[in-house]
Amino acid sequence: MKRIGVLTSGGDAPGMNAAVRAVVRTALSNNMSVVGFKRGFNGMLMNSLTSTDDFFDMTSRSVSGIIHKGGTSLMTARCMEFYKPSYQKKAVRNAKALGIEGMVCIGGNGTFKGAEALNACGLPSVGVPATIDNDLAYSEFTIGFDTALNTAVDAVNRIRDTGDAHERASIVTVMGRDCGDLALHTALACGAEAAVVPEVPWSIIEIGEMVHRGVISGKRSMILIFAEGAQKSLKEDVKDLRKKFPKLHINSDKLSSSQYAEIIEAVSGHETRATVLGYTQRGGSPTANDRILATRTGSYAVKLLLNDIGGRAVGIQGNKIIDVPLCDAMVGSTFEEDFYELVGITGYTRK
Ligand code: F6P
Repeated sequence: MKRIGVLTSGGDAPGMNAAVRAVVRTALSNNMSVVGFKRGFNGMLMNSLTSTDDFFDMTSRSVSGIIHKGGTSLMTARCMEFYKPSYQKKAVRNAKALGIEGMVCIGGNGTFKGAEALNACGLPSVGVPATIDNDLAYSEFTIGFDTALNTAVDAVNRIRDTGDAHERASIVTVMGRDCGDLALHTALACGAEAAVVPEVPWSIIEIGEMVHRGVISGKRSMILIFAEGAQKSLKEDVKDLRKKFPKLHINSDKLSSSQYAEIIEAVSGHETRATVLGYTQRGGSPTANDRILATRTGSYAVKLLLNDIGGRAVGIQGNKIIDVPLCDAMVGSTFEEDFYELVGITGYTRK
């Protein structure tokens, strides 16, 4: 191949810039030219009024001074149109009209689905895993996870200070969509009393009772890390909780972190507060680990295309860069039972 395209898509992840930089610099040093598409697959559809708003030829200078920056200089978006085959074919037509022979798609699950579609439509495409969720089972880590984890740990340290001062239990809700990895790793790194994740059934009443036991055993403050997708495995029925706690005004079926805190407070008799970390976890300068992972995987993706290999997802296993078929990259669970047990052993307030 002599000319390839690159895009970042889905939720941004710290380290995406480092991956784009590695793609561009590896391609240029192998005499390939690179087109950067803006706003993920939207750029390939060329919907903007001016073409430079959709794509541009990248030079070595296009990626200068970005390795340490969060976000993505190519910008990102979720592109619902791209789920339709007619739009996928249009994107491939557009790319081929620009002389592009292969694509590197940097992002998570949804991005990989898009890359698989491009590949099926005749444009060899390779996926580079970048998502703070770490929800791609074929790769031990995804770009952005380490930074998000460190951001969450730093936030919990601060919350612990105020929780200690006020003798409160603190719920800290982290991102991760349907995956509990970020919550689990944050809980382990912070010595939390509990990790509440979508992969393990849990009871809000039991968490309240655990906080009560913690207080009796002399704990003044406690840290409870909740994954944003935790409600998926909540054992109690929301209707029953509504009846049991009428004062809480539970109006919708989706419980908020503050409502969890109120229930825990009601059960334990111990003041409980909730903090949702939200998008703070997606921003910030990538950690050294994320920059290195992004550089290694981005460069490897280009080498696959250089050898006319598409339809693969690049990842890391045992500190070795690997590649697997894109279809295999989107299956399986990343849940680490031993990590979960370790949170229980080191942090739990036992009966
Ligand atoms: O996939 C990354 C992620 O940050 C998830 O953890 C979260 O559920 C989702 O994206 C939020 O998406 P949006 O940016 O569309 O609000």
